[in-house]
Order: sequence, then structure tokens, then C-alpha cells
Amino acid sequence: MNSVIDITDLSVKEIDSLINTAMDMHQNPEKYSSVCKGKKLAAMFFEPSTRTRLSFEAAMLELGGSVLSVHSSATSSASKGESINDTSKVVSCYADIMAMRHPLEGAPAVAAVSASIPVINAGDGGHCHPTQTLTDLCTIKSEKGVINGLTVGFCGDLKYGRTVHSLISALARYENVRVVLISPDELKIPEYVKEGPLKNMEFSETDNLEKALPELDVLYMTRVQQERFADREQYERLRDVYILDTEKLKSAKEDMIILHPLPRVNEISVGVDADKRACYFKQVMWGKYMRMALIMLLLSGEHKGADLLEGASVTQKNCPNSRCISHTEQELPVYSKNGRCVWCDEELN
Ligand code: NCD
Repeated sequence: MNSVIDITDLSVKEIDSLINTAMDMHQNPEKYSSVCKGKKLAAMFFEPSTRTRLSFEAAMLELGGSVLSVHSSATSSASKGESINDTSKVVSCYADIMAMRHPLEGAPAVAAVSASIPVINAGDGGHCHPTQTLTDLCTIKSEKGVINGLTVGFCGDLKYGRTVHSLISALARYENVRVVLISPDELKIPEYVKEGPLKNMEFSETDNLEKALPELDVLYMTRVQQERFADREQYERLRDVYILDTEKLKSAKEDMIILHPLPRVNEISVGVDADKRACYFKQVMWGKYMRMALIMLLLSGEHKGADLLEGASVTQKNCPNSRCISHTEQELPVYSKNGRCVWCDEELN
């Protein structure tokens, strides 16, 4: 498969090489200004986005290519009931590569199976977001010089925060990275992350940001994901649990870095922006270069990932995750791999 749906579709060697390429692109943009000349990126965004869509589009334009885009379900044939399978086959006739964001978990994976062009997952529901992870890793590497051996704290909505799930998956493949999970009980990390990547790393869980702060090299703040809550009252109760401000930062290491995938709501006070440890706007900048590097790699044909359905078998069971694409996509079988739904990773019981 030449698509990137999950961050584990890229080897650590490929990720490290993408980081080096992104850094070179930042230094020498003119070297890359026509590498995708004549190629088209389809940016298929069925869910709101500012950074991810614009950075994909800017990335392709800086590589000399062009862009076709869908900005919402409402303005595409998705609103007429078109399936992901059909949409992907159609887009394959117009574009050379596709980036897809979708509120249903597993939608970009279905697209990757149907399309004849590389598909990049630009965020699927509360599941994963591999290109944000590339951005995060590049920022960590550029600020700290290393990824191995760091202690990384994740704070906020660890349940629905797809960027958290993907970054943990990536960090698990580096050496001696320690993770501190900071969240209220209701927003704890999903089981599949605990049973998967976290199995291979040292981690601890707490609900106390102040206590965890002094030991961290990286603090990854996240917004409480309002749009994923079925219960509005629960969101209102949880939305303000963590607010990082200059006072709290006094107990953090001098060289700790603060990351946030953005958008920020109120979980980082604006006063923190002036602190030299605040790196979330630099992170935005790296997002464009990492997507440039990824588009270039996938269009080169040199990336050969494992087939998504390899080792999976069709099951008659329904996926218990109500946000899984298998509930809406016409005649889509549920595939089981290691007891989990191949589209959304939920345990099939
Ligand atoms: C994140 C996302 O969409 O998951 N944003 C992004 O892509 N930079 C985080 C969020 O929406 O909270």
C-alpha cells in the first residue's frame, strides 16, 4: 500500500528521513519548487479544518503542483449519499494523490482500499491523525535535537484527541520515551492505545497537571473535543479542567517545550505565547514542510507499506464503535485483525 492511514504505515527510518527532508525544504525551498510539477492533490475535507487543509494545499503549491479541494460534506456528493468507495474511485480519475479528513473513523482507510492513488489520512473522527504526528515529531527533533529518551506529557482530552493516539503510536517505536498521561477519568486514553503502543513503553496516568509538570521534557496540550461528545453537559463540565498559564509554568523545566496541535480554545492562556517554551506556532510551520516531504515521498513511488487488509479476515460481527465507517458505508464488510476492527481499531467482542 502506498497510502498513509496510520503512522505505523511509515517505518521509523522513513519518518526520520522525512524529518531530514522537511528541514532541508525549510532551508532550501527553491530546490523543491517544481518536484511535483503537473501533479494534482485532492484535498477532501468532510470535517472542519484550517491548518491541516491549508498546509496540505500550501505544501502541494510549494512543490509546484496544483490542488483540487472539497471543503465540506454539504458541498460534495457525500450530501447525496455517495459512498467513500465511489468518491475515492472518482477522485482517482482527477488527481494523483488525495488527503482525506472525515468525521467517521476508518473512512480514509476505506478510501485507500478503493482508490488507485495514494491516500493520506488527514484525521478520521477521534481515531488518528498521522500527518499531525509527523509535524509533532519534526518540531520535537528541531527543538530538542532528539526524540529518544524524552519524557512526554499528554494533557487534556486523551480519549477523543486523535493527535494524541497517533503521536503515542509513533513515540512507542523510538527508544526510552516515557509518557505521562494527564486527564480526568472521563477523558482517559482508549483501551486500544493502552493495549497497543503503550504496551511497549513506560507510562503513568494522573489527573494532576501541576504534579506532573516538573518531570516533563515535552508537554503536549490538547483541546477538549466538543464535537465528539454525545453528552453536552459532560463537555461543559470537562472543558475547563486544564488551563496552562504562566504561574503553573514556573514549576516546569527551563528547556521543556509546549506543543499543541491547535486550535486552542482556552487550555493555554494567551500569556504563555510569549514564553520561549511555547512552540505551537513553530509546530504549525513544520506542518507544511512535513506534508511537502510526505507528498514527495508518496508520489515518488518509493514508499511500499503493508497492505491494510493483509492478515485480516471478514467477520459477521458488527463493530461496536458507533463512529466507525462500517455502519454507514454501503456493503462494507467488517474485517477483523488481531480481534480488532481493521477500520477503526475497536475491539470486536
Ligand atoms: C487537531 C485535529 O484536527 O485533530 N487539529 C489539527 O489538525 N491541527 C486537533 C484538534 O482539532 O483539536
